[in-house]
Amino acid sequence: MLPRTIDWVDGRIVMVDQTALPQVRVVPAASVDELVDAIRRLVVRGAPALGVAGALGVALAVRTLTGPALYAAIDRLAAARPTAVNLAVGVRRARAALPGGPDAVLAAALAVRDEDIAACRAIGARGADLLAELCGPGPLRLHTHCNAGALACVEWGTALGVVRSLHEAGRVAYVVADETRPLLQGSRITAVELTETGVPHRVVVDGAGPSIIARGLVDAVVVGADRVAANGDTANKIGTYPLALAAARAGIPFLVACPESTVDPATPDGGAIVVEERAAEEVLVVGGTRTAPAASEAWNPAFDVTPADLVTAVVTERRVWRPAP
Ligand code: MRU
Repeated sequence: MLPRTIDWVDGRIVMVDQTALPQVRVVPAASVDELVDAIRRLVVRGAPALGVAGALGVALAVRTLTGPALYAAIDRLAAARPTAVNLAVGVRRARAALPGGPDAVLAAALAVRDEDIAACRAIGARGADLLAELCGPGPLRLHTHCNAGALACVEWGTALGVVRSLHEAGRVAYVVADETRPLLQGSRITAVELTETGVPHRVVVDGAGPSIIARGLVDAVVVGADRVAANGDTANKIGTYPLALAAARAGIPFLVACPESTVDPATPDGGAIVVEERAAEEVLVVGGTRTAPAASEAWNPAFDVTPADLVTAVVTERRVWRPAP
C-alpha cells in the first residue's frame, strides 16, 4: 500500500516524493524553506495536497520562526505555486489560528488534512452516482488526465476517488490515463494508483486522448481541478481543455471532481486565473537529455482553462453544480 501523501510526524512534515514515483520514497520537510522547495519541485503536488502542505507549513513555521520572519515565511509558502487556490486557502486557515499559539495552528492544519480525507470520500460517492445517472450503470469506460488521485490529496482522490467508488461497485470497464507531459503525472502517478487498486487501464500520449474519445472508446471524462472560478471556468493540468472539447463533440459527460476549497468565489472567471509558467527545460529536456536544438525555446504553461460551457458538472463534497447555462 502506498504511504499517505503528506502528514505530520514527530514535529515535521513527511511526504511521498512524487518526483521519484513510480519508486516510492518518503521525504521530510523540517523547515518552511525545505517545504517551499518541495512544492516548487512537485515533490508534493495536486491542489488538495497543496492545501494540506500549506496548512502544515504554517504549523512548521510557527514552531521555528517569530515576528516578521514568520510572516515572510508564511507569504513565501502561500506564493510557492500560483494556480491551485487550495495552497493559499490552507495557509490562510492555519494562519488564522496563530493567536492561539503553535498547538492551535497545528490543530487547524490537521483539520484541513482530515476534512480533505472526508471530502474525497464524499466526492467519490457523489461522482459515481452522477455517472450512473448520466451514463447508466456501466461498467464504464472513463478517461482522466494528470493525477487527481490519493497522491494529489491525502487519501482516495477526487477524480480517481470517483473511479475508486465505481470500481468498488464493479462498475469500471477501464480507465484511459493520459501520460501528461511534461512531468508524466499520468504515467508515473495515476498508473501507479490504478495498478495498486486493480483498475484496468491504458496509458496514452496526451495527443491521443481526443481521438480516443472521438472513436467512441470513452463513456465519460473525469478530471480534477486546481481552481474553479465563480462562473465554473476550470483550471486543470495542461491538456485538459482538449479532452473537454472532444467530450462535448462526442456528446459524453465531462466531470470536474474537486473539494469546495478549489472553488474560488474571488476569481470571477477563467481569465482571472493565474496560469503557472514553468521552466522551459521541463519541455526541452527528456530523461536528462536535451531533445530540442540548443537554440529552441519553449512555452511551458502548467495548466489550461476549460470554459464553463464545456463542463457538464462540478462535483464537490457538498453538491453537484452544473455551471453551464
Ligand atoms: O502540477 P500538478 O501536478 O500539481 O497539477 C495537478 C493537477 O492538475 C490536478 O489535476 C489537480 O491539482 C487536481 S488534484 C485532485
